[in-house]
Amino acid sequence: MYKYILGIESSCDETAAAVVEDGKKLLSNIVASQISTHSKYGGVVPEVASRMHLESILPVIEEALAKADLNFEDIDGIAVTQGPGLIGSLLVGLASAKSLAFSLDKPLLGVNHLEAHISAVHLENKVDFPFIALIASGGHTNLYIVRGYTEFELISKTRDDAAGEAFDKAAKALGLGYPGGVMIDKLSKSGDRNKYKFPLPLNTKKSYDFSFSGIKTSLVYFLKKNEVKNENDLNDICASYQESIVRSLLNKTFNAANEYHIERVVICGGVACNSRIRELGAGFGKENDIKLFYPSPSLCTDNAAMIATLGYYRFRDGDLSQLNIGAYSTLKTKIVRGQKSFSKTGQHS
Ligand code: KG4
Ligand code: ZN
Repeated sequence: MYKYILGIESSCDETAAAVVEDGKKLLSNIVASQISTHSKYGGVVPEVASRMHLESILPVIEEALAKADLNFEDIDGIAVTQGPGLIGSLLVGLASAKSLAFSLDKPLLGVNHLEAHISAVHLENKVDFPFIALIASGGHTNLYIVRGYTEFELISKTRDDAAGEAFDKAAKALGLGYPGGVMIDKLSKSGDRNKYKFPLPLNTKKSYDFSFSGIKTSLVYFLKKNEVKNENDLNDICASYQESIVRSLLNKTFNAANEYHIERVVICGGVACNSRIRELGAGFGKENDIKLFYPSPSLCTDNAAMIATLGYYRFRDGDLSQLNIGAYSTLKTKIVRGQKSFSKTGQHS
C-alpha cells in the first residue's frame, strides 16, 4: 500500500523535497531556491545549478521528512523528476533517489516534470476528468487533455519560446532582472495594458500551437525605436506586453476546451502565478461556462509536492522504475490527437 510518498525535484534551479499522504495531503514541501545566485548572471547557469543541488539535496530531503514528522522507514515510495530539465541538475536528484531506494529497499519511480505540474492541482481541488490543462513555465508551454490521474494527451505546444521565457527575456531587455515574470507582473499592476499594441501570436482558431518569439522580438524592436520615458511608461510597456502573452494563453486554452466540449480547465506552471492570467481567466471562465482551477502559487512554481502526487497515482497504477533509469533533457512527444507516442532524447544515467 502506498501511503507516504517522498517526492524529489531538481530539474532546474530549485532543490525540493516533499512528503504527500494518500496523494492528497501535503505533509511537507521544502524548496531551496537558487534564484539569488543565478539572477547575478541574468539566467540559470547549468554548471552552478548542479553544484548547488549537490550541496542542498540531502539537507532538503531530511527537512522534508522532519517537517512531516516521519522517518525514512515510514516512506512507502520515492518519486523523482526524471526529465525534462538540465541533465546535470536532474542527475543529482535522480542519484539521491536511487541511493535512498536501494539502501532503504523502497520502490522508486521516475516521473515527468511537466505532467507533475498538472498533478499539483489534485492537492487542493477535486477536478473531474477529463479536463484541459495548460502548463506555462520557463521552458515549456503545453496544452493537454487529461483523462485520468495518469493519462495525459498532448494537444499542442509552443513552436519556439515558452511563455515564461518570453517574460524572462523581456525583463532582461527592460533591465528588470531574473526571473522576469514576477517583476513584469508587479509593474503591470500600475500600467495601462491598452497603451501599446504587441502582436497576439498565432491568433487563429485553426491551430492550438503557441509561439512567443515574435512578441519578444517586437518588444526588442520597440525598445530600439522608442525610449522608455519614465516609470509610468515602463509600467505601460510591461502591462501591454503581459496582456498579449496572457490573452494568447487563454484564447488557445479556452478554444480547445470548447472544441473538445470539456467544461474544466486547469492552468499550472510558474506563469500561472501571474495575477492578470488569474483575473482575465476568471472572465473567460464565466463567458464560456467553464470551471477554472489553479494550484496555489507555491504549487505552480517548481516544487516536489507535485512530483510526490503524480508518483502516488502512478505507484497506485502499478508503475515502478528500475534502479538503472536515466535522466532525460527533453521529452519529444509526438502530437497525435487522442493518441500519443513518446521518444525520449538526451538520455543519461
Ligand atoms: O514552473 P517554473 O517554476 O519553472 C519551470 O519549470 O520552468 O516556471 C518559472 C517561470 C519563469 O519563466 C518565471 O518568469 C515565470 O515562471 N513566472 C511568472 C510569474 N511568476 C513566475 N510569469 C508571469 N507572472 C508571474 N507572476
Ligand atoms: Zn517546472
